[in-house]
Amino acid sequence: MADSRPIGVFDSGMGGLTVLSELVRRLPNERFIYLGDTARVPYGSRSPRTVLRYSLEIAAFLGQSDIKMLVVACNTATAHALPELRARMSIPVIGVIDPGVRALLSRTKSRKVGVIGTRSTIKSGAYETAIRGIDPGMDVTSLACPLFVPIVEEGWMNKDFARLAVREYLTALRDHGVDAVVLGCTHYPLLRRAIESEFPSFTLVDSSVEIADAVTAMIQERDAASAGPGSVRILVTDVTEQVSDLKRLFFPHPVETIEEVVVPELHV
Ligand code: DGL
Repeated sequence: MADSRPIGVFDSGMGGLTVLSELVRRLPNERFIYLGDTARVPYGSRSPRTVLRYSLEIAAFLGQSDIKMLVVACNTATAHALPELRARMSIPVIGVIDPGVRALLSRTKSRKVGVIGTRSTIKSGAYETAIRGIDPGMDVTSLACPLFVPIVEEGWMNKDFARLAVREYLTALRDHGVDAVVLGCTHYPLLRRAIESEFPSFTLVDSSVEIADAVTAMIQERDAASAGPGSVRILVTDVTEQVSDLKRLFFPHPVETIEEVVVPELHV
């Protein structure tokens, strides 16, 4: 039977629109509600406790819209909040890390893999834990690349500056013999070209593509597809000057309205 309830998607800001973009492409009949926490972005430099609290607040807020599934598009939020979100919600909650890890493990030949993400994601060790949970003998090198988010948000992905930063951060992975790297941050798919031109030997795993495939499979397995028509609502917690520009950068679909909402605080 068709399930026309919306799918909730959230991120620390606008970068998670890379995930929404992949979802809309695969599931055009679904109704999506995206929430970008632009008032509190970035999450990548925050403590685990704070990221957890923000994530629980957003989940509670989106839960009020009778969503059928919650997609955590933010790697940092997935790293710190996924188990707690799953424990508290009565609907399926899917995060970016597990689908990315499964793809990563299926693509390495050298059995040396790389994980790149924000400081907070890397410090959490969540990717390593997920990798070792499947393959305890895998050689994992994790690297925080804090300059990548501002480079993408400046729109400098195709400048020499971006290639220089890519070379500076990722040479260590190549020197270690890594052959497959998961792009463990919403913004990094936009650096794919810069990374490929500097390190053509890497196989890159785009976690936004992998989570979109996983959500599509889950909808099919549960027979929970909507009969349509599809729609997209984009909500933010602060309409900053950058919001429209970032929307265009990350989401090449025709949605012009961006609604501002207030997410109530929780005392957790
Ligand atoms: N969305 C974050 C992530 O995927 C990146 C931006 C931030 O630091 O909030 O980790």
